[in-house]
Amino acid sequence: MEKRDQLYAGKAKSVYTTDDANRLILLFRDDTSAFDGKKKEALDRKGMVNNKFNAFIMEKLEQAGVPTHFDRLLSEQESLVKKLEMLPIECVVRNISAGSLCRRLGVEEGLDLNPCTFELFLKNDEKGDPMINESLAQTFGWATPEQVARARELTLKVNEVLKELFLSGNMLLVDYKLEFGMYQGELVLGDEFTPDGCRLWDKDTRDKLDKDRFRQGLGGVVEAYEEVGRRLGIKFD
Ligand code: C5P
Repeated sequence: MEKRDQLYAGKAKSVYTTDDANRLILLFRDDTSAFDGKKKEALDRKGMVNNKFNAFIMEKLEQAGVPTHFDRLLSEQESLVKKLEMLPIECVVRNISAGSLCRRLGVEEGLDLNPCTFELFLKNDEKGDPMINESLAQTFGWATPEQVARARELTLKVNEVLKELFLSGNMLLVDYKLEFGMYQGELVLGDEFTPDGCRLWDKDTRDKLDKDRFRQGLGGVVEAYEEVGRRLGIKFD
């Protein structure tokens, strides 16, 4: 597999073309950002940890019947993925109240949400990723009603699989964000699933084991990600 040109550089990952028109390389960098890029830092080992974490989760999801873009690990910080036509929407599921839900609705953090919530956001840094809905997605051409319905179905399936998985490591899956794209006519999970894009709490202490440690300046960010991985049996070295 030959790595060619950089296609895109996001806040924590870079994307490269390859000699295969249907495959891209994702490079998980050590860079970490929050608050729309206003807080930034490079955290040693984070790229490697997230690359291996993502590979582990994507393989679990694939086994559970969720189509993903993940193909294989290429190196410590790189993975080979299918080239998707990404939809400019973010799907968020919440099992426990936290983050923007609390700010928006004035509810306290830590409430059990039953049934879990499903929210759609437009992926647009300049506009601060505003919340949207199926109607707006259809009217503005961001996603068809069928794509939104399938994205919702897969996002909820991911919840069933990963709630159980994290519970097996005594962790609560509080919330998470997923992105989807089209590959040969099928809606497929893209982007990543790592502690950068979800909230995970220790079930007993409710200690934060995710990017909130970075957002809130709690320290021990990569150590917490490694702890999550260790509890799931992921080998980082
Ligand atoms: O900020 P908010 O509470 O809406 O985030 C919900 C979940 O989605 C969190 O796990 C957060 O890490 C994730 N998220 C993300 N990228 C965004 C927005 C939210 O990974 N652009």
